[in-house]
Amino acid sequence: MSDIVVLGIFNADTAYHADRMPRLGETVLGSGFVLGPGGKGSNQAVAAAKAGGDVTIVTRLGADAFADLGRATWAEAGVKSAVTVDAESHTGAAFIFLQNGTGENAIIVSPGAAGRIDVAEIDSRAALIGGAKVFITQLEQPIPAAHRALQIARAGGARTILNPAPAAALDDAMLALCDYITPNESEAEGLTGLPVTTLAEAEAAADALMARGVGAVVMTLGAKGALYRDRTRSVHVPAVTAGPVVDTTGAGDAFNGGFAVALTEGRDVVEAVRFGCATAGISVTRPGAATASPRRAEIEALLARG
Ligand code: RIB
Repeated sequence: MSDIVVLGIFNADTAYHADRMPRLGETVLGSGFVLGPGGKGSNQAVAAAKAGGDVTIVTRLGADAFADLGRATWAEAGVKSAVTVDAESHTGAAFIFLQNGTGENAIIVSPGAAGRIDVAEIDSRAALIGGAKVFITQLEQPIPAAHRALQIARAGGARTILNPAPAAALDDAMLALCDYITPNESEAEGLTGLPVTTLAEAEAAADALMARGVGAVVMTLGAKGALYRDRTRSVHVPAVTAGPVVDTTGAGDAFNGGFAVALTEGRDVVEAVRFGCATAGISVTRPGAATASPRRAEIEALLARG
């Protein structure tokens, strides 16, 4: 049993640094390459554990070298795991283009084994998922698996977080199982069909999500921080800056991991959003995804600096 249970995928991130993406049929020379641990679910689990959470990840891996990277990453961060090994597929892998100068990225994910997680597998983890204080998932594994896990978590009394990434069409029954949904601006646009370029538009998109059954919306706004909005409160939490931006990969995951930890500790939700912003604020100053997330003491020191 763990306070925080994450359903999600692990990827080996293959990150290529270059000035720009190649066009179809074109080759461009890059300026660097890094292989490291990624996958939104795994990144969130690692970020939460490093921030002081008691965390278990539920996932599927292949029987290959990338799986070893996943296990080593979790061991170092203190993440427990409930893993199905699927030798008929591969461990998740991600191509990441990292733009020189801006740290912005573009990603292709191939979930492999984790793309085969089904409802029966989720049911076999019901005791773990139903026993969590906070349950969090994303959309890199199949949506029916995420939906079923949210049902189990809600029935068990967990607070449920859906990080709707990558963006996908979701039905209202699934949204109604989410105490918190944590889209970024483009995911909020994808879910609602509304533009999200200003704070007022972010608030309108949050209202549209709540009208579909979500409990509260925590929208990450990149350099502008995050919007927390429920039916009685609407708070813009500014970004917590820790230094120059080096790599934004996994910043949203760091946010979600930090947010989940603060919620399990019983903090007010806006304080939890601020804790998430600080976690993400440090992660973007470092290269990589899971490797960039900060330890608890670093987050507290940044928040103490105001
Ligand atoms: O959110 C960042 C993550 O998205 C990367 O680590 C990559 O693996 C993809 O899952």
